[in-house]
Amino acid sequence: MAISSRLDTARVFATVLLPTLAKGVIVRRPGVMALAEKTQSDSAAIATMRHLRDRYGPEPVRLRVTGRSIAVLVDPADVGRLLRESPEPFALATKEKKAALRHFQPHGVLISEGAERERRRDLNERALRPENVPVEAVVRDEADLLVRHVMSNGELTWDGFSQTWWRIVRRVVLGNAARDDDQLTDDLKALRQNANWAFLRPQQRGLRERFQRRLDEHLARREPGSLAAFPGDLSGQVPHWLFAFDAAGIVTMRALAVGGSGMRGVLESARLWPTTPVILRESTIATRWHGTWLPENTEFVVFTPFFHRDPDRLPFADRYAPELWDEVRDPAIVPFSAGPGECPARDLVLVTASAMLDALTEHLTFAGVLDEPLPATLNHFTLRMGATPVGTRVP
Ligand code: HEM
Repeated sequence: MAISSRLDTARVFATVLLPTLAKGVIVRRPGVMALAEKTQSDSAAIATMRHLRDRYGPEPVRLRVTGRSIAVLVDPADVGRLLRESPEPFALATKEKKAALRHFQPHGVLISEGAERERRRDLNERALRPENVPVEAVVRDEADLLVRHVMSNGELTWDGFSQTWWRIVRRVVLGNAARDDDQLTDDLKALRQNANWAFLRPQQRGLRERFQRRLDEHLARREPGSLAAFPGDLSGQVPHWLFAFDAAGIVTMRALAVGGSGMRGVLESARLWPTTPVILRESTIATRWHGTWLPENTEFVVFTPFFHRDPDRLPFADRYAPELWDEVRDPAIVPFSAGPGECPARDLVLVTASAMLDALTEHLTFAGVLDEPLPATLNHFTLRMGATPVGTRVP
């Protein structure tokens, strides 16, 4: 059985798990992201993962920790199996996820179990269809304002982009009447900042109640043309939707930085810099891997930057390779996860993000697109891109 040495366990914690936690799992921390970019911390993480595979072979590598069975996957086929066999026997609702997410979405599908999970999963799948909302029209409307702003400033910054993005998100999710409700998403951000600390911080009951009340007022309008109009009890699910649209904005901005366009550009951005770097599952029974039994309640860790950017396996690891998405057959290139726990909003995200890329690049030419080999860590907070109207010369 592959049990990592004490030194290797320490290395996994120091270069893979702790830096991921420090960047902020639920909401990214700008200071830590800046440091991570400076040191290109994902390179060290990927190097550690390659070392594990070289030293211990393809079996899941068990970390030497007391009180918890933790297994790190290194074989792409194992990732495929883990995701396919979710949520039974590999549950999405792990202890760590429950501790973090209950701060702002105690009824979310991701931390639900059994029949309740099935019901909520089904509702999410039906509600989050791109054809349920006029996404493109909303994006175009808001992007027009941003284009004008960028034309007068000559550059696109993360702050400018993200203000527009949140207006789009609030309109798509809750309707036009929520467009300017910054307070709602600011409250959610504060709850998410607390959630980054999972077990270590108490819940902010007052703030959560205020957020949920405000959210329920918006939902009660069931504004036609928004996701809120979808029939069903959405109240417990929408906090996750608002939260996860943050990742979609980050992926869109990074796609611009790499010169990406269309849905394949969005997928590539999410492959190169996955916004869910660690996919976790917890086994509900003992399971057998490469001839070895791992006990019930083992926590399985899939560190996606390794599988997405492994230079030993992928000739395109560090370049922008949208053609790859014409037929991805790699079971471990999974920016939206896969199997029964795959992101139910994948198509909605692809439509929204690619509409934003189209709306911006139709009018603006961006300078300073990243060079290859592309960096392992990319801090979106400090991205600034010079922009000129399409048809004029880029300085
Ligand atoms: C770039 C944007 C996004 C990416 C890369 C992404 C990726 C993912 C991933 C990897 C998971 C699986 C998590 C796990 O197994 O622990 C997931 C789950 C989920 N995502 Fe997304 N997501 C994105 C945006 C969104 C948006 C905008 C929504 C809603 C509007 C959404 C709704 C969900 C839900 C409800 C789940 C839980 C599914 C379940 O428990 O079965 N996601 N997403």
